[in-house]
Amino acid sequence: MSEDITGACQDAASLLRSVPTTKRIRIVSHYDADGIAAAGVLCTAVYRAGYAFQTSLMRNPFTKGFDRLKNERNELIVFSDMGSGQLETIESLGCKAIILDHHQYLRAQTSQNIRQINANLFGADGNYDVSGATLSYLFATALNPANEDLAALALAGATGDKQFIGGVRGLNKTILEDALQKGFLTEQTNIKLYGDTIADALYYSVDPYYPGLSGKSEKIETMLEQLRIKPTTSIQDIPPETITKIQSYLLFVLIKAGCQQNILEMTIRKRYVASPGWELERFADLLDACGKNGYRSLGLSLCLGDGSTWKEAMQVEKDYKQKLLTGLEGLEQGIHETKGMRYFYSDNSSLGGVIAGIATNYMLDEKKPLFSLTRKETDNEIHISCRGNQQLVRQGLDLGAVMKTVAGELGGFGGGHKIAAGATIAFGKEKEFLEKVDVLLVSQMQG
Ligand code: C5P
Ligand code: ZN
Repeated sequence: MSEDITGACQDAASLLRSVPTTKRIRIVSHYDADGIAAAGVLCTAVYRAGYAFQTSLMRNPFTKGFDRLKNERNELIVFSDMGSGQLETIESLGCKAIILDHHQYLRAQTSQNIRQINANLFGADGNYDVSGATLSYLFATALNPANEDLAALALAGATGDKQFIGGVRGLNKTILEDALQKGFLTEQTNIKLYGDTIADALYYSVDPYYPGLSGKSEKIETMLEQLRIKPTTSIQDIPPETITKIQSYLLFVLIKAGCQQNILEMTIRKRYVASPGWELERFADLLDACGKNGYRSLGLSLCLGDGSTWKEAMQVEKDYKQKLLTGLEGLEQGIHETKGMRYFYSDNSSLGGVIAGIATNYMLDEKKPLFSLTRKETDNEIHISCRGNQQLVRQGLDLGAVMKTVAGELGGFGGGHKIAAGATIAFGKEKEFLEKVDVLLVSQMQG
C-alpha cells in the first residue's frame, strides 16, 4: 500500500490504464449527492481517458446489485462512495477493482487486483476531510491533471455529505483553495434561499428546516407581510437590506428552535459558486433530490453537463421536498423513545433517513440519536437509517460501529459514519435489533 493518497491514486490510475481502451470501465457509486457527484467526476475522467463506461448508482450494493455485476464479467470496476464495507463481496467478483471510499472500512489488506483508497486508511477523517466525490477527484487528477476543472462538482458532493459543517477542512480545503485560485469557483457570504419566488424558497426550505415556517404557506405570508415583502417577489429583486432582515428573522427562528451552534453557523456562511452559475450546496440539493426520489440518472446527467435536464430536475426536487415536508409534519407524535435512542417508522427508507437527519438538526433536542425503520415485507427486510449530532459524537456516539456490529450479529449488513449510518436486517429481527442497539448506545454515550 502506498503511504499517501496521491501515491495511492497514481497507483490506482496505473491499474486503470492497464485496461485496453477497447474495454468498457464499470462505475458503481452511491445514490446520494456525494455518490452522484463522484460518479460524474469518474465518468468524465474515464471518458476523457478514451474509455466507454457504464454506471450504476446504488443505494448499497447488496446481493441483487452484486449478482448483476458478477454476471457482467467486467474487466475493471471503480466503486466510489462505497466499497470498503463490501470488500469481501468485491473480492469475490474476481475482477480488477478500485475502491474510492470514505466510510468506515472492514480491513486494510485487499487481494492483489484491488486498490482500496479509503480516506480513513491515509490519516484523513472520512467524515469531514474528504468525501466520495473529492476522493474521486484526487483519482481523476492522478489520471490526468487536466481533470482539475471537475473540482466544483467534487466539492458539491462533499458539501452534500455535510462535510463542511464546522468549516472546510483537510483535503476538501486544499481542493477548494486551489479551485478558487484557478477561478473554477467564486466565493460569497449569504443564506441558502432559492426558488422562483421568496414564498417558494421559504416553503420548500428543508435544510435548513425552519420549524413553524417551512411547508406552511399561511405562516410564510404573515412573516412576509410583517417584513413588507410581496410573497411573489423574485429573490434577486429583493434589495440587500431586506435580505438582511429576512436572514435575521430566519436565524432567530432557528435559535428559538434550539439548533446547535454548528447548524447555525452553516446557515449564513461563505458559499462557493461554480462557473456555470450554481452554488455548491444548491447543486448538491438537486442531486440528492434526484437520487432519493427515483431519478438517479437525471442527477448524473446534470453532473455530465446536460443543461437541458435542469428544469425537470427542479420539478423532481419540489416533489421530493413536499414528500419530506409531509413526513416531517406530525413526526413528533410518531416517535418512540428508549433509554439510548428515539425511533419512528417510515414507508420509504430513503426518505426516512433524510427526515431523521432534518428532525435531529432542527426539531428535536440533542440528547439521543434518531432512527428511522422501514419494514419491507415483500423483501423480508427492514431498512434502518440513523442520525446523530456532533455533541453526541463528542460524547462517544459511533452509529456506524453500532450498525455494523448489531446488523452483523443478526445476519444483516450495516455501517456508515459516526454521525450517520444505516443497516438492513431480516424482517423478524426488529425487536432484537432495537434491544441490542439500545444497549450499545447507552454504553457508548456513558463511556
Ligand atoms: O442509508 P442511509 O442513508 O441512512 O445511510 C447512512 C450512511 O451509512 C450512508 O453514508 C451509507 O453509505 C452508510 N451505510 C453503510 N452501510 C449500510 C447502510 C448505510 O455504510 N449497510
Ligand atoms: Zn459520501
